[in-house]
Amino acid sequence: MIVNTARFVISNSDYTKCPPEMRHEYAFIGRSNVGKSSLINMLTGQKGLAMTSATPGKTMLINHFLVNDSWYIVDLPGYGYARRSKADRDRLYGIIQNYILGREQMTNLFVLVDSRHEPQKIDLEFMEWLGENGIPFSIVFTKIDKMSATAAENKTAAYCAKLLETWEELPPVFRTSSEDKRGREALLNYIEEMNKLPLLAEQ
Ligand code: GTP
Ligand code: MG
Repeated sequence: MIVNTARFVISNSDYTKCPPEMRHEYAFIGRSNVGKSSLINMLTGQKGLAMTSATPGKTMLINHFLVNDSWYIVDLPGYGYARRSKADRDRLYGIIQNYILGREQMTNLFVLVDSRHEPQKIDLEFMEWLGENGIPFSIVFTKIDKMSATAAENKTAAYCAKLLETWEELPPVFRTSSEDKRGREALLNYIEEMNKLPLLAEQ
């Protein structure tokens, strides 16, 4: 898919105030600093579209971006940033969970995982929760430019093997780098295919 246009539409803390139209929508979630906003900029080809930062906790709201005037990308706040107060973390969790459970337009959730790290409890539990709630999701390994191709292959394969200890089958898996754009075509093609299907809420 070719991305011709992408523009910021609105930020919200409450999913009921998100754009009302029934358009396909793809949200990006994962631990703080995993590279959600950077990936959105890489996919859309606009460096400054979603705000990024080397300091975790940059994205605090549900951010909607309209792509090709037809579908939405959503940048969500990260979870699990330990240096935030418990009250702030709980508030962010509330925003994220309500959005995920309540947003009918959300066609697929991309769960981002830093390819360098061992499987983390917080991510595994989050994916369990998605499974329990029947939320369609895919896994996106980020920052694969930070290691050799072999190391990236081994690390991500080990991660998938760990998932298969508890999951019967794997969701779709993507390996990406926002630095060198690896994974861009695969992700955009996947979205293009899902855009052809009716919205879940309309089925
Ligand atoms: P929060 O909004 O704070 O939850 O973070 P985020 O998940 O949106 O991460 P963000 O995109 O802001 O990126 C965090 C840091 O990682 C920034 O310093 C990015 O430049 C860096 N980064 C993100 N993706 C990549 C990547 O693919 N490769 C490399 N080398 N660095 C990356
Ligand atoms: Mg962000």
